Amino acid sequence: MEGNNASALQKGIFRKKPINPEDFKSSGGLARVLSLRSLIFFGVGGIVGTGLFAITGVAASVNAGPSVTLAYLISAIACAFVGLCYGELSSIVPAAGSSYTYTYVTLGEFIAWIVGWNLVLEYSVGAATVAVSWSGYVASLLHDLGLSFPPRLMASPFETLTLADGSKVSGIVNLPAAFIIIVISLFLMRGVKESLKVNDVVVFVKLSVIITVITVSIPYIKWENYTPFIPPNTGTFGHFGWSGVMQAAGTIFFAYIGFDAVSATAQEAKKPSRDIPLSILIILAICAVIYIAFSFVLVGVVNFHDLLNDSAPVATAIDKTAFPWLKIVVKFSIIFGYVSVLFLLLIGQTRIFFAMSRDGLLPPFFSKVHPTYHTPWPSHIFFMFAIAILCAFLPIAQLAHMCSIGTLLAFILVCIEVMILRKTHPNEPRKFRIPGGNLVPILGTITCIAIMYSLDSLTWFSMFTWMLIGLVFYFSYSRKHSHLHKKHF
Ligand code: ALA
Repeated sequence: MEGNNASALQKGIFRKKPINPEDFKSSGGLARVLSLRSLIFFGVGGIVGTGLFAITGVAASVNAGPSVTLAYLISAIACAFVGLCYGELSSIVPAAGSSYTYTYVTLGEFIAWIVGWNLVLEYSVGAATVAVSWSGYVASLLHDLGLSFPPRLMASPFETLTLADGSKVSGIVNLPAAFIIIVISLFLMRGVKESLKVNDVVVFVKLSVIITVITVSIPYIKWENYTPFIPPNTGTFGHFGWSGVMQAAGTIFFAYIGFDAVSATAQEAKKPSRDIPLSILIILAICAVIYIAFSFVLVGVVNFHDLLNDSAPVATAIDKTAFPWLKIVVKFSIIFGYVSVLFLLLIGQTRIFFAMSRDGLLPPFFSKVHPTYHTPWPSHIFFMFAIAILCAFLPIAQLAHMCSIGTLLAFILVCIEVMILRKTHPNEPRKFRIPGGNLVPILGTITCIAIMYSLDSLTWFSMFTWMLIGLVFYFSYSRKHSHLHKKHF
């Protein structure tokens, strides 16, 4: 393979892994069970969740008003550019690990570490955010059914609750959020194939609910709710006007998070070179249509001012129709539908750490595979505890932004890597090549930077703190244990 010898001989923190197709033929003990159809179901099921069902209302009421629809379109365009780049890279490097692995062969070990470390924000913090939202929907459904669960056991110690008698108390622990993480992790340890059977049902239910909500709500749209489509800026960056649309794009970017996890499962796909790029594009197209249609109907039925602090905007929309009883069915389906999002995020997280551990950047513990179930079970156990503790005790509902910024950084690097690989490995076989020269990777980089720029300073600060912890770990452990390092010394 071209460039292999040169890159394999590189020393130091920018040493690169050679592109060796033999490495990618082996599944590393993981079972190859994913067909194109299951990849699409896995992706759609894993992407549609908290972003749409909880964050749309926040983005509309705080940032963009009716133009939240436009924000969904802008984020979809950015993701489509990035999705195409993922498609090209995964057709050259169809290995587990996704953007982490692509970065290792193009920009070298240190940047690959940064990408892998940031993906923890995407997957683990993402899973914790979804689990907290799941807990919120459970509380709301129980309330609708006239059942009660101690509210202090459904909130973290940092949250303040208003009880029925008007008194204010703080939460103790978010038990349902921790519970769902534990149940799903144990389930995933038993095998991806079994999980996918459940996933198909979940996706079917979720899509049926969305289509039903859109259909029954259309007659209740009030066209005056769409004017002004972009409410004037209040004088603060990100509060309406065009800066608000962009900040909303950053906020609802969370809704698209997860499509890249499809490429993280390349070693479990039956035909990775063809199916990974194709499935990413199909998944993004399906989700963009759903999000744009859903958000358009939502802000048409409910005035965006009424969505302030509304963590269940779907239920609010249904209340405006002649079918309020549907609310219970919808909430139940959303609770069920979140399961597939957690599937994707937890599988994505463990597979990224699997790849990093196989390269020696993380302890070997993370790449141990169960002899019968063919899953990285110790990694599942580790993240089960870590994420359960995170969502039980921390107020992470606001952390969706952290997820987005970490993911956007990884996406920018993926776009840049496409251009670099075209220069360094021009003749490497590509089963999928983006047409139009470097236009798409350049546009992908620009749109992701624009969305990142719109996020608030606290989010930037959190990302830098996380990176700092990552750097300490890299220089104290990963650099010395890297398999490439051992080869050279
Ligand atoms: N995209 C996923 C969601 O919105 C993470 O829940």
